[in-house]
Order: sequence, then structure tokens, then C-alpha cells
Amino acid sequence: MKKADVLIIGSGVAALQLAKRIRDEKNVIIITKSFLKNGNSNLAQGGVAAAIGEGDHPDSHFADTLEAGRFHNDRTAVLKVTREAPGLIKKLWAEGCRFDTDEEGRLLLGMEGAHSEHRIVHGGGDATGQRMMEHFESAVAGKFTIIENTIVFDLIIDSSGRCIGAKGKRTDGSIESFFADHIVLATGGCGQLYSHTSNAETVTGDGIALAYKAGAEIADMEFIQFHPTLLYLNGKTHGLISEAVRGDGGSLVTEEDIAIMEGVHPMGNLAPRHIVAQTIYDYLREGKQIYLDVSTIENFAERFPTITALCEKNHVDWKKRIPVAPGSHFLMGGVKTDLIGRTSIKGLYAIGEAACTGLHGANRLASNSLLEGLFMGKKLSEWINEGGEKNGMEKRDAEFPENRRPLTEINNRDMRLPEIEGIKRTMMDNAGIVRSEEGLLKQKHWLEGFQIEEWLNTDLGHLTFEELTRVSMLITSWLITDSAMKRTESRGGHFRSDHPCEKNHDWIGRQIIQRAKE
Ligand code: SIN
Repeated sequence: MKKADVLIIGSGVAALQLAKRIRDEKNVIIITKSFLKNGNSNLAQGGVAAAIGEGDHPDSHFADTLEAGRFHNDRTAVLKVTREAPGLIKKLWAEGCRFDTDEEGRLLLGMEGAHSEHRIVHGGGDATGQRMMEHFESAVAGKFTIIENTIVFDLIIDSSGRCIGAKGKRTDGSIESFFADHIVLATGGCGQLYSHTSNAETVTGDGIALAYKAGAEIADMEFIQFHPTLLYLNGKTHGLISEAVRGDGGSLVTEEDIAIMEGVHPMGNLAPRHIVAQTIYDYLREGKQIYLDVSTIENFAERFPTITALCEKNHVDWKKRIPVAPGSHFLMGGVKTDLIGRTSIKGLYAIGEAACTGLHGANRLASNSLLEGLFMGKKLSEWINEGGEKNGMEKRDAEFPENRRPLTEINNRDMRLPEIEGIKRTMMDNAGIVRSEEGLLKQKHWLEGFQIEEWLNTDLGHLTFEELTRVSMLITSWLITDSAMKRTESRGGHFRSDHPCEKNHDWIGRQIIQRAKE
């Protein structure tokens, strides 16, 4: 058993921004499922959005965020984040984060979809996430305890309903319990629930499943963003081709060189992601391959070294054109929080992609995710540094507190788990880019055939690391499918072929799911 002031589950930008800003005298433990940098943050290419350029203004960033989010956003969240974005970037830069600059030492600002100004701060050309993670890693190294290769499989809730700890399992099968005043979920989203994805292999919805199991409110799970351009070869996706490529002039074309976004949206290749992804998807369904033509981009290899290396590794001649397809990229929903990161369970917080602050609405604006991680990591650190709400850990002895819901041993011989590939394939087919009642119902029945309710009430300690991942995937897939069934309209990342239009927004607000309290 280990005790800390703050237990952070996950190790991306939001987690490390929080850890970095927690006062030195506090004891912080970071638990991560794989190794510190094996997550989505490290893969982020495009950059971080901030209205920092001459002639730009946070009001314009605010308006673009709302438009991309199809006005489903929490306006207070959008206002605060877009206002604070320039300051967050300047601070990080002043601290030594290596963003790209021009000859005069000014930040270079890129363009991405649905932005009305050049405002994407980037590093290493298209290796922004890597640059930020390097910066944070050196800032937290040696300061905190970092426990790698450990999956958290249960949150410990005391008899008052407060979260006071978590149970983790290492890859060698050993189990350890962790107790802290503040338990923070920073586990990222759930891209790996789909067969086509830009996400790291560790991103399987673990934090969302944990929070749901513990009784926290979960919001907006139907809104999944499919990034339009992943490298696509032989029916498989092989990593992200940043939207910054289209920002620099890349164009989406058919085999016959016909520009596909012309006449579809006034912003053409830089239309909001859901529009571009759905357009490409329609071509692919007819058996037509779509390409990203980068021939007009000068110094492509210099500006986009990560993408150049990805193409070369996969024997794609990027100088001609790059075959692309959409894939699951970002979850706009998640564990419902306020703008400090507090969930509906005392002592439990969520930040980064695992959380739903309402910032992104129905579809996230490009390069607003690292930004949200920076914002929320900072806000939560301030709350904790100021004292937060303690649970009185110091008064507790080493005794193992009662869990609110006694979990049962596996006693049902029929309990089984779906295969990972089965989840990914069926989610892609039935709850993916284009959804319908028929497909969603089919998916819901299939998922419910795996006794979800029983898994939620079972002590999972005896399962293997891989089986624990499958439980998270099962629960999170069900949350997405159930929410997508209930939203009988199309909005942002949620497209229903049987309800193709947006409805009057008063019809349905934020969908919140929570387990029934016993
Ligand atoms: C990209 O580089 O296209 C991804 C950036 C983002 O998801 O905001």
C-alpha cells in the first residue's frame, strides 16, 4: 500500500502540467499503464491553439470553438480557456518548451481546419506533443514517484461516498492499493475502441469506465471525433497525417485528381473535421480511394518531419500523394467535471481527454486538446495547492476502508469478455462515422450479451492486465452506443443517417449517464 497527497492516473500533458505545478512539499504519485510517454500527447502533431498573433483575438478563437462544437459547448468553459490560452503558451515557452520560431525569434503560427486565423503554435515542425512531453518530463523527473506498467482497475470509495484511492495491477500480476487526498483521472479518451484510429494503443477508455463503475456522472459520450486524414494502406490506418498539412495547402483529391471538398463547405479542405471525415467516408464506401495531394507545399519534409518519416516507413511516396482515411481521434465527452476538474464524486477529479468540461461541444476545434490539458492541469494544481478539500488521510490508519459497494467474486460461469478486435470492428461498423438506429441497436445488444452489469459489480482483481483492458473497452463502448442511440439528431461528431439534421438545440442538452445508486 502507498499513500500520497495526490494520485494521478495517466501521464499525458494534462497529468504532467498538474504534477509540475503542484507544490514541491506535496507527495505526488503518477501511475501509468505503459511508460511515461506512451500516450496520445506524445503523438500530437499539429499544435496548441492560442490567439497570439497580430490581429487575432480570443473572441475569434471563442467563436471558432463554438462553431466547430456546433454550439453544444459550455460557453463559460470556452470563454475562460480561449482567454487564458495566450498566457498559458507564453508561460510554457518562457519556461523553455521548444516551440518553433522565425528568424526574429517570434512564435510561428500555423493554420488548421475551422480556424479563422493562423494561431497554431507548434514545435519540431509536426512534433508538438513530443516537444511538450520532453519539456514536462524533464520538469517532473526525480520530483515525483512514477509507477509505470500498472493499470488501475478500481477506485476505492469510502462509506461516505468519497474517493480515497485506487487499486492497480502491474504487468507481473501483482496488485497494489494507493491512497491519496486527491485522485485524478488523466487517462485520455478511447480511440482504441475503433479499428481505425490515430490513438496510442494504451487509450482504451479506462478512466471513463472506472469513473462510471464508481458512480460518477459521465457526459456527452456520443460525440466522437473522427480525424479525416490517417495514412491508409491495404484497408488499415497507420497513424496521423496532421490537419496542418491542409493548413499549409494540402488538398484532398480522388484518384482522378478531382478536389473533393469543393462545393461541400465554404472552408473547403479546412472545413470542420466532421464534415471532411464524413465526405471522405462517403467516397470510401463507394470503393474510391482519397488522397492528400501535398505537391504545392514547399519544404514539406522540413515542415513535417514526423509525417515524412511515417510515409517513408510505410513505403509511401509522399511527393506524389498520400492515401488517407478517417479514424477515431478524440472523445468530446467523458467524466463530467467543472472547470477545476471536480467530478460528481468528492475526492475524484478528471482532466484532459478523460474529462468532459463542455469546452469542445459536439466536435473539438483543432489544437484545442493540448490547450485544454494545459488549462485544466493548471486550474487543478491551484485548487490543490490552496488546500482543496482534504479527506483527512492523516487521520486514517493503514486499515483498508470499506468500499461503498461490496464487489462480488466471479460466480457466473457465463461471464465472458469480447475479444479486442471484435469490439473495434463492431464499434467501427455500428457506432462509427455514420450511425443509425439499426446499427446502434445491434451493437447495444451485442455488448449487453457480455453481462456488463455483472462486470460492474465484480471484483476484477483476478483478471489479467489484458482482460482488465477489455472490461474498460466493453463498458466505454456501451456508454458511447447507448448515448448515440438516444441522440436522434446529427450534430458535430455524432452523425445519424436516419436523423441527418441538427434539431432545435433546446430539444436535448448534455446527456448525462450515471449508474443507479443502490
Ligand atoms: C492534427 O495535427 O491534425 C491533430 C491536432 C488535433 O487533433 O488538434
